[in-house]
Amino acid sequence: MCGIIAAATDRSVGKLLIKGLFKMEYRGYDSAGIAMHSENNVVHLRTLGKVKNLEEKMIADKPKGKVGIAHTRWATHGEPSEINAHPHQSNDRVFIVHNGIIENYLSLKEELTDEGYAFNSKTDSELIAHLLDNFLKAEDSLLSAMQKLKNKLDGAYAVAALDQREPESFVVARNRSPLVIGLGKKENFAASDPLALGNLTSKFLILEDGDVAKISPDLVEIYDAKDKLANREKLTIDINAEASSKGNFKHYMEKEIYEQPQAVLNTLDGRIGGEDVLENIFGEGSSEMFAKVKRIQIIACGTSLHAGRVAANWFSAISGLPTQLDYASEYRYKNPYVDQDTLLVTISQSGETADTLAALRYADDKGYLASLSICNVPTSSLARESDFLLLTNAGPEIGVASTKAFTTQLTALMLLTLSLAKAAGKNPLLRARMINALRLLPEKISEALKLKNDIMDFAPEIANKDNALFLGRGIFYPIAKEGALKLKEISYIHAEAYPAGELKHGPLALIDQEMPVVAIAPEYELAEKLVSNLEEVKARGGALYVFGNAKEKLDLSTGRYISMPECDFLLTPILYSIPLQILSYEVALLRGTDIDQPRNLAKSVTVE
Ligand code: M6R
Repeated sequence: MCGIIAAATDRSVGKLLIKGLFKMEYRGYDSAGIAMHSENNVVHLRTLGKVKNLEEKMIADKPKGKVGIAHTRWATHGEPSEINAHPHQSNDRVFIVHNGIIENYLSLKEELTDEGYAFNSKTDSELIAHLLDNFLKAEDSLLSAMQKLKNKLDGAYAVAALDQREPESFVVARNRSPLVIGLGKKENFAASDPLALGNLTSKFLILEDGDVAKISPDLVEIYDAKDKLANREKLTIDINAEASSKGNFKHYMEKEIYEQPQAVLNTLDGRIGGEDVLENIFGEGSSEMFAKVKRIQIIACGTSLHAGRVAANWFSAISGLPTQLDYASEYRYKNPYVDQDTLLVTISQSGETADTLAALRYADDKGYLASLSICNVPTSSLARESDFLLLTNAGPEIGVASTKAFTTQLTALMLLTLSLAKAAGKNPLLRARMINALRLLPEKISEALKLKNDIMDFAPEIANKDNALFLGRGIFYPIAKEGALKLKEISYIHAEAYPAGELKHGPLALIDQEMPVVAIAPEYELAEKLVSNLEEVKARGGALYVFGNAKEKLDLSTGRYISMPECDFLLTPILYSIPLQILSYEVALLRGTDIDQPRNLAKSVTVE
């Protein structure tokens, strides 16, 4: 789960590669490195820590070069250190950067050790450099060595490599890890994410699994899994520089929180009309397919699975469909039983989460009616490999903690709920009500964003605690889970979520004055029961922070009540996510953590 970038140009390449790495730091930020063809050798620099450290080293050393590769790392094998940082090299001839995991690395390492290769790092990636060097003893080019290499490797990889004897070009290979080629004028590039190349080009080729390509300033030659010359679809992707910058905000996360009214508007744009959802918004033939759906299987990870948990309630209440949910990392290992006419729904911001992708691929021949993905990245593997797709159109989400991706996933999932109900001819009045409520949603989110000052008022009380509990019932339990995930992820406060009724079955033992309890308590059928659960907390001295819209129902002599804007009950999960995001952000700010790049995490988890 790293970012790789490579460029062949006739201008100085160093700055360009560093700029690209900065844009991909969301993928990993524990160490970074660069290798560039220079006069008669290859310059090789690596640093521990963020890309900024590498940039400083570059400024000090002033290396020159026009063809180079670079890497920002999220450690899998071997701790973050300079020696484990990429690029790795072999015999000062071959230099490589790698994103992914080589599953058969132990046996390959043994083979290479027998051949006399010594390993400097603890990574699985270094062997790629040695293997290429070994193949180059018999092969006449880095390209053919890379073609040999791909038959040796098991696992996921996007690799870019330099051969010191081929100073005009670099070679890339892709298998189950993202890699795109960017086309410029007398310069060409490759990167894990088009975002890294946004200021350089808008013309992209998306590589497929098994592809190997040789790239020089004037030429891109792509060979497919069978080593045949291949054409890949050319895509134009305009990456708006503003969309990938922080603007006047302190953090990407903060910017992304405040972008939500517009992001939700973008998700809805062109998808609803009159009093219903439009036909075939999930792709040609989707409406016809929806009419056959009898059950839903949702697969996702983290925040995306929380969105799925909310949607399961909607599918049942509005579309009359039962739903099964699984963590993508668990799904393949439980021998899933597939009922006929089940629609497989995967949800992912990045569309490159390895667990989710592996689950989709595993499910391919299991007899699902179709696969459908809710995704934010149009070029991602998930988006391209699913039968049907709805893009959330939230714009790049760069902060590791998901915010606008979550609320737009929920919005997209409501569109799916309505499409399924429409195809089955169910609930026309309710559908019309939801369409009107969706139209009002961006405005409601803007209102919720104004709660910032109220939240800042009590954030210090939570910032100095070690634990927190989040409570919600029914459709709000997933929102409580999401609130707890957000808090632990960026503030490092231990946080758990419970359906409030479960409190008395154990967690109540944890309640004392040191335990802040955040409750999501809008007025609805379970509200009275929730009030009793909150009384139980109060009676034990727990500090309550209640988000709701019926203060008079709760005798809150202690604790805080945050009055939420009114909105259609079925959309309240979306609205109530907003203040919980602000709360986590403000608490993390007070604790001085690295909000956009919290410790040990990375935005896009491309390893299983
Ligand atoms: O890109 P995805 O939506 O597939 O990512 C799934 C999770 O890794 C992600 O939602 C993670 O839980 C977030 N960092 C949470 O804020």
